[in-house]
Amino acid sequence: MIRLEEVITVPRSLWECYRYIQDFSTSEQWDPGVYRAVKQTPGPVRVGTQFDLVLNSAGRRVPMQYRITRLSPPREIVMQGEAEGLRALDTISLDDAGHGRTRIRYRADFTFTGPVARLEPVLHPWLRRIGRQAVAGLERALTPEAQRPVPGLRDRLAHRTVLPAAWSFTERGYLRMPNKGLSHRVDGKTFVITGPTSGLGLATACELARLGARLLLVGRDAQRLQDAASRIRDFSGCEAAQLETFEAELSRLSEVERIAPVLQAAAPKLDGLINNAGALFAEHGVTEEGHERALAINLLAPWRLMSLLLPTLEAAGGRVINVASGGMYAQALHPEDMQFLAEPYDGSKAYARAKRALVDLTGTVAAAVPGVTFHNMHPGWAATPGVARSLPTFNARLQRWLRDARMGADTIVWLASAPVAAGGSGQFWFDRRPRPVALLPGTAVTPAQRGQLQEFLASLVPDDPLLARLDRHAAGPIPDQT
Ligand SMILES: NC(=O)c1ccc[n+]([C@@H]2O[C@H](COP(=O)([O-])OP(=O)(O)OC[C@H]3O[C@@H](n4cnc5c(N)ncnc54)[C@H](OP(=O)(O)O)[C@@H]3O)[C@@H](O)[C@H]2O)c1
Repeated sequence: MIRLEEVITVPRSLWECYRYIQDFSTSEQWDPGVYRAVKQTPGPVRVGTQFDLVLNSAGRRVPMQYRITRLSPPREIVMQGEAEGLRALDTISLDDAGHGRTRIRYRADFTFTGPVARLEPVLHPWLRRIGRQAVAGLERALTPEAQRPVPGLRDRLAHRTVLPAAWSFTERGYLRMPNKGLSHRVDGKTFVITGPTSGLGLATACELARLGARLLLVGRDAQRLQDAASRIRDFSGCEAAQLETFEAELSRLSEVERIAPVLQAAAPKLDGLINNAGALFAEHGVTEEGHERALAINLLAPWRLMSLLLPTLEAAGGRVINVASGGMYAQALHPEDMQFLAEPYDGSKAYARAKRALVDLTGTVAAAVPGVTFHNMHPGWAATPGVARSLPTFNARLQRWLRDARMGADTIVWLASAPVAAGGSGQFWFDRRPRPVALLPGTAVTPAQRGQLQEFLASLVPDDPLLARLDRHAAGPIPDQT
């Protein structure tokens, strides 16, 4: 038997540490040896809960199962693991170290079985190294960032050149991130999330529910919303009362306008709005209101929702997170033809232009509305039902390099939950770092184009509160009338 033991002290409360570690599927966030960890037993973690892990082992992917055998909240977690030729017994003990800190003692006993047992002396130093890396990863995941991360020089240069930037959109980019921990609890906070029924929205909702959020789930189909709520409960073990569902066909402005006051009544103080619903269409099409479909769902809906939920967001000092796309890098804004009528329809272009418009509008809004933090982000390339449907060739060719939905959702959850992400309003994020909004010559939005975009939106909804705030901001401080 090989025994490994490491002790760390982290600046987090006993309960926060316990709740994070007891769901061992978080090991994919902190243990570099774990590629994927999935909780197989639905609902809250308890004795008997099983986790299926896929380990990175000397360039191979190896399955391993863990089962919780003892829980003594918040002081001890004991798990048994089993893989081919290996049994593990992990004992994690937690103690209050004073001043809001927790001492974590991680002990792992490994027993090799079968022919592998003879290799034990060779395996010992290797196991010790990966054990140390795992516990160092846990320490990072439980240590709040002192300041908002900024990209290093190499990273910055790579993101100025299209090809290396695009390569980082694959799962490689996510796996290279130094800290993947999502450990900041958001108990008692309320988030609206659009498009929670599939892909990134579902993964975001699962993770935020695990962190304790109350979620107002906005989707267009009642059955899909119910199915999503049940999957979120199974994943996170959250209470049924943490999730409320709201039906709205978001490609219609009238529906956004109908649902906004309902959401406002459900959450007079809103901690976060996650504008995630989006779509790319192969064919040109218009909504019942006469708007090109990609424009309607990717720009008009998130814009109006931010606008109409602004008072509730301001009441809580909340955050808006708009899910944009790296595809935006390939397109300039065409404010003179927002409905895409002047040239033959190209779904990728229409989608990218709408996303660019949203990112630009949000960047401008951030300066005018200081009480709310506005974030734009892009998720890289993730395998989701949306991508499989709208980009089947891309999906098939890049399948083995694509991120999974939780990797694509990582930065959304981080922006919603990390204390350091309460600032930095108006930036464009990818893999938890701010990025440039334009890479190619001629794709940066000019002040004239910005003005045209806002005029276009004002022509659709003349009294939009967000646009009014932009006008007031541009005109400078409003004189005191009293
Ligand atoms: N996956 C990627 O690689 C990638 C890359 C860049 C950006 N994005 C962005 O990430 C976001 C999520 O995309 P995804 O890949 O997760 O796609 P997805 O699997 O198709 O999920 C999209 C979600 O949006 C909802 N939705 C779409 N149209 C709607 C409408 N008219 N009204 C209400 N809800 C609507 C869908 O609801 P239903 O279940 O009812 O269809 C679904 O919940 C999108 O904004 C997308 O543009 C994704």
